[in-house]
Amino acid sequence: MEFHDVVYQRRSIRTFKDTPLDSTVLEQLVTDATRAPSWANSQPWHITIVTGATLKRIKKRHYERAVAGRGGTADLSVAHRNDFAREAQQNMENWNQQVNETLNKDPQGIATFSQAQATLFNAAAIVYLTVPQNATGWSLYDLGAVGQTLALSATDHGIGSIPAYELVRYPDIVRQETNLQATQLLAMGIALGIPTDSPINTLYTTRMPLTNSLTLLH
Ligand SMILES: Cc1cc2nc3c(=O)[nH]c(=O)nc-3n(C[C@H](O)[C@H](O)[C@H](O)COP(=O)(O)O)c2cc1C
Repeated sequence: MEFHDVVYQRRSIRTFKDTPLDSTVLEQLVTDATRAPSWANSQPWHITIVTGATLKRIKKRHYERAVAGRGGTADLSVAHRNDFAREAQQNMENWNQQVNETLNKDPQGIATFSQAQATLFNAAAIVYLTVPQNATGWSLYDLGAVGQTLALSATDHGIGSIPAYELVRYPDIVRQETNLQATQLLAMGIALGIPTDSPINTLYTTRMPLTNSLTLLH
């Protein structure tokens, strides 16, 4: 695919088909993703991908907790909306509206959205991104680049993706099922799969105008 198409066609996908993903393709995505730059080429990341029986167990345990209304205990702290900058709060409000407009087209819309979270989007694979617990913000910067490059490579391979807090909301489940070392911080998860044609997957989010996000000085 053309670079521009890859960037603009990537969007968060929230329900995937049951179709499994080939291990060779998953390895290719990680090979591409780890072309990301990092502090002194430290490559501080570790990537764990779950599919098959392991993923099934994680999904089952996550679902039971999510429907029971258990709060998350993610390794990275979660800020309350009010603690974001005003502009970010407005952007989140706009996103809420866009989500509602998209979901209202579907009578089951709102239920589909929360069901999607609880079922981990019916992902065919989940990619967990980790760094050492004592890593600095620089390593998290590096990890973000890995995540986005992976999502772009997925788009290029015809695979849908979503980076989601939901995937790392109960890190103890992920730790138990993947034998993730206690010294590793579970920073983020990315769900992968073939998108269904559910209306939820048609959401194409806007961005604030460049005048809000760019300072270009001469
Ligand atoms: C750090 C982070 C956490 C996110 N967590 C969730 C989540 O838990 N559930 C969800 O549905 N979407 C989640 N998203 C997806 C965002 O809502 C989405 O990236 C944003 O609205 C922009 O839309 P786009 O990815 O389609 O361009 C998350 C994205 C990021 C980067």
